[in-house]
Amino acid sequence: MNLVSATDENIAKAAAILKAGGVVAMPTETVYGLAANAFDGKAVAKIFEIKGRPQFNPLIAHFAEGRGVASCAVMNEKAEALAQKFWPGPLTIILPRVKNCPVSELASAGLETLAVRVPSHKVAHKLIKACGFPLVAPSANLSGTISPTSPAHVAESLGGKVDMILAAGSSSVGLESTVVDLSEDKVVILRPGAVTAEEISEVLGEKVEYESGDALKPKSPGLLLKHYAPNIPLRLNAIDLNPGEALLAFSSIKFMGIKGGGAAMSLPESQKRNLSEEGDLHQAAANLFAYMRELDRPEHKGIAVMPIPDIGLGVAINDRLKRAAS
Ligand code: TXA
Ligand code: MG
Repeated sequence: MNLVSATDENIAKAAAILKAGGVVAMPTETVYGLAANAFDGKAVAKIFEIKGRPQFNPLIAHFAEGRGVASCAVMNEKAEALAQKFWPGPLTIILPRVKNCPVSELASAGLETLAVRVPSHKVAHKLIKACGFPLVAPSANLSGTISPTSPAHVAESLGGKVDMILAAGSSSVGLESTVVDLSEDKVVILRPGAVTAEEISEVLGEKVEYESGDALKPKSPGLLLKHYAPNIPLRLNAIDLNPGEALLAFSSIKFMGIKGGGAAMSLPESQKRNLSEEGDLHQAAANLFAYMRELDRPEHKGIAVMPIPDIGLGVAINDRLKRAAS
């Protein structure tokens, strides 16, 4: 098995693989990423191939430090302000590519913009530093399936296809980064994440909103409405359960019933998960993908999801849930 623990020695090996044009799954604070040398078009192409991802979906370039970005993308004033506040961390910024940008055009899927991010995970940081070039890294899952938040998830879906999986436990954030588009005058958030619209608005001193999202013609091509999908139906805002359904709970389930009789509390452990008994949205985000996977079993008729408050990180959680349900 090519799954190894992320020791300094293995990070050095991973860097050697990447320098030779290989593909490595790496931990980040958001989700595990499938990494390749951003300057090497052939290596980037391998990523699309492994993920089975539509070619028009552009990738994020990950840098070790914010100051490395300027050689690839135009860091405008707003970008500097956001970088100062949120990097390293779960924020991706879309910027115009610089002239003669060394990042493969395939990574931008032919667009004149580049998505950039500086992850805060120590292993990701060390790996990018050891490489000396930025790494493009989509989430390390097959296109259209749930993003991996643990090395086991990566091994399950991509195990045989990647040169190495660097394992470093579960991702602390558990949701992909917030994507904010600074390439045009009007700032918009293309993908909600742990950094919220309110926080971004405050730093920029202007009201920034989530893109309302025309599902058929999304601006960020990766935002295909159906994206994070379990194999069984997902039913949102459930206030009670249908017989045979599994329960993805949030907060207390004391008063939740099963149609035709019975209480949610008495369901077997295999049929229920609670994103956060205390109603903590950060904890819920970190558990979301893992729990969806655990409940996604053919013996369940579907997954009923309790309502999640649509505030703060809840906006991002509900966004992922809506996609998974569509
Ligand atoms: O948290 C994350 O961002 C993870 C970790 C591994 O860093 N990566 C990730 O990558 O989620 P991916 O490829 O699964 O999602 C990137 C999103 C897609 O929705 C893509 O369409 C959008 O960013 N994107 C990338 N480049 C873009 C660009 N130039 N313009 C508009 N959207 C872009
Ligand atoms: Mg993804």
